[in-house]
Amino acid sequence: MSFSTAPLDTLADRKRTVPLGFDRAARRYDLLTGMNPGYKKHLRWSAQRLEVASKSARLLDLCCGTGLSTKALAKTYPSAQIDALDASAGMLGYARQKRYDADVQFIHGDASDPAAAGLDGLYDGILMAYGIRNLPDRDGALMRLYNLLKPGARIVFHEYSVADSKRSRAIWELVSRTIIIPSGRIATGDGSLYEYLRESVIEFDGIQNFESRLRAHGFKNVKTMPMNGWQRGIVHSFVAQRGE
Ligand SMILES: C[S@@+](CC[C@H](N)C(=O)[O-])C[C@H]1O[C@@H](n2cnc3c(N)ncnc32)[C@H](O)[C@@H]1O
Repeated sequence: MSFSTAPLDTLADRKRTVPLGFDRAARRYDLLTGMNPGYKKHLRWSAQRLEVASKSARLLDLCCGTGLSTKALAKTYPSAQIDALDASAGMLGYARQKRYDADVQFIHGDASDPAAAGLDGLYDGILMAYGIRNLPDRDGALMRLYNLLKPGARIVFHEYSVADSKRSRAIWELVSRTIIIPSGRIATGDGSLYEYLRESVIEFDGIQNFESRLRAHGFKNVKTMPMNGWQRGIVHSFVAQRGE
């Protein structure tokens, strides 16, 4: 697996280098997310919204990063077997150092093509927290993710989406320009990943569009559930289910 280091013109080009940016930012990731009130609680909410019933569930955490979303899954489903995948070796290095309430296996691979990383499904639930926005081919990825779910199983995309609301866009612009980008620059010495974050959130599908995209790929019972605090109207759980 390799991520391009060629000159970057468009946001789509930049998405291909995002894991390299996370390699550089990994050391400060937990510190920065720890300053974000509600971050861990909201990951727990998205994990709970998977509503996995089976005691011996097989779960997938895609774009697991330093393992904060993996922790949320493990705490919610302690008897599950969890595969956790990320393309950044740096982020995975920190994830592997944590202790989890469930059985977790970490995998270095590209979420755009989970089969190439050795994931052959089928899963009782998939959590993808702050992942889908970063994939250059959103539709191709959704098609492959659908096929990783057991019939009737849920996937939750825990993701920013502000395009449908002027108010949400304005709050996001304010928070990202005055807090996230300056703190990221101070903590890591490089603001480019946080500039990318701001821009990629602005560019990401609105709620209506993302829900339509999910339905177009065959997902059923698509719904969007809110967070609280400053993330209300900005971060969401997009819940979808593979048909029975
Ligand atoms: C904002 S972090 C989220 C980490 C974790 N899910 C959390 O909630 O804290 C985004 C993660 O997505 C990973 N990522 C970005 N593009 C990826 C890709 N194509 N395949 C796998 N992981 C990717 C990055 O390396 C990074 O660790």
